[in-house]
Amino acid sequence: MLPLRRFAGACRRRGLAGIAPGAPREAADAVVVGAGVVGLAVARALAMAGREVVVVEAAPSFGTGTSSRNSEVIHAGIYYPPGSLKASLCVRGREMLYKYCAEREIPHKQLGKLIVATGVAETAKLDMLLKNAKENGVDDLQMMEGSEAMEMEPELRCLKALLSPRTGIVDSHSFMLSLLADAENLGTAISYNTTVTNGYIGDEGLELHISESKALENHSVGSPVSPQLILFPKLLINSAGLSAAPLAKRFHGLNQVFVPPAYYARGCYFTLSQTKSPFSHLIYPLPEDGGIGVHVTLDLNGVVRFGPDVEWIDGGKDVTSCFLSRFDYSVNPTRCSKFYPVIRKYFPNLKDDSLEPSYSGIRPKLSGPGQPPSDFVIQGEDIHGVPGLVNLFGIESPGLTSSLAIAEYIVSRYLR
Ligand SMILES: Cc1cc2nc3c(=O)[nH]c(=O)nc-3n(C[C@H](O)[C@H](O)[C@H](O)COP(=O)(O)OP(=O)(O)OC[C@H]3O[C@@H](n4cnc5c(N)ncnc54)[C@H](O)[C@@H]3O)c2cc1C
Ligand SMILES: *[C@@H]1O[C@H](CO)[C@@H](O)[C@H](O)[C@H]1NC(C)=O
Ligand SMILES: *[C@@H]1O[C@H](CO)[C@@H](O)[C@H](O)[C@H]1NC(C)=O
Repeated sequence: MLPLRRFAGACRRRGLAGIAPGAPREAADAVVVGAGVVGLAVARALAMAGREVVVVEAAPSFGTGTSSRNSEVIHAGIYYPPGSLKASLCVRGREMLYKYCAEREIPHKQLGKLIVATGVAETAKLDMLLKNAKENGVDDLQMMEGSEAMEMEPELRCLKALLSPRTGIVDSHSFMLSLLADAENLGTAISYNTTVTNGYIGDEGLELHISESKALENHSVGSPVSPQLILFPKLLINSAGLSAAPLAKRFHGLNQVFVPPAYYARGCYFTLSQTKSPFSHLIYPLPEDGGIGVHVTLDLNGVVRFGPDVEWIDGGKDVTSCFLSRFDYSVNPTRCSKFYPVIRKYFPNLKDDSLEPSYSGIRPKLSGPGQPPSDFVIQGEDIHGVPGLVNLFGIESPGLTSSLAIAEYIVSRYLR
């Protein structure tokens, strides 16, 4: 207890800087790696379950990864295969999220969304989506004739549309801030600028090697990292997002057949340089390989964005860079040439030169180009046999929507 408190106190005050060299060894109760929306939701849920939680985050603040580089859409749960974790955790998470946002006055809006068919061949796909959604328990979708949808959205052109009234948007930063405050009020300590570099699974349980992120800055590929702190957690949640699989590859003693290959798909957004939004609903074309199509998203300030597209990228061989989030998030302005024709299928009045590069996010994928989409992977002792270890892989969309349900799932399954 005491060493952990000391560690936690030190982390809170000044990161790991105050810990002397010589790699002190400390016991810990629950350690969460990664302070993205999922890590924070899990930390909060563990703290609510009475656990003593430490969150270790490589970056200088929370939510600087995928959690602040997404569409901020509260998904209804339409697309995912029935019976999948994505389907069940999205539907459950969405309701938990609406309730939480209402209780905490977190900015959000249930705008509703239209999935649109612009070609004859596409209308059958809308029927398939409607059926799929029903199997997922999403039974409030309404099929509409194009004329009806175009009456709701005068700038829209489509043959048929599926209205999802329960889709919305949320201010993800406010949401994360609230999760963090809940966790901290329950005694959770968060250590920024702190990277987990390795794990060892032995007879004494889990052993976690931790360093200040700064110490890894000039680390050369392949050379060993000497830890500045070694923790022995009873429970370890690997919620490192894009780095979760590369990190699990460094958990020595974990049977590596359980660590899936990691693929990365960047998605770029372009904003519409016009002040008034042409749409009041979110507008989605039909899904494409790797994503759910270049859609219209609105944020709570009324900014209109188109995206994200899908660009498969190399994750890089250097694990340390991955832990330090050195991904290429730049938006190549020339990619917008691909946006105009697809957007004009449903928004013909889109003017030339009206799209401006915005931000990008990277999807942590478990299947590559052309392969079928994969499900969220949440592995505990029941799967890999290591007591106290929970790995979260492939938490791409709808991870934001599902975050509270993912946390609930972990607590209900892996705490005894
Ligand atoms: C383009 C795009 C659009 C999306 N749109 C939506 C949407 O509209 N709705 C929705 O529900 N979902 C959406 N998602 C998915 C959603 O954003 C993610 O599922 C969610 O943010 C994942 O959160 P996370 O906490 O798992 O990961 P992250 O936010 O990536 O957090 C992981 C954290 O771990 C830290 N870390 C990494 N390695 C280490 C280490 N070794 N030691 C310590 N810390 C480490 C990182 O610094 C990071 O802060 C979208 C995703 C993308 C890419
Ligand atoms: C984290 O590191 C950055 C610079 O790399 C520094 O500005 C910041 O103060 C540090 N934060 C903490 C909590 O130590
Ligand atoms: C890393 O290298 C840069 C440039 O050579 C240097 O300025 C910086 O101080 C180094 N950082 C550490 C932690 O050694």
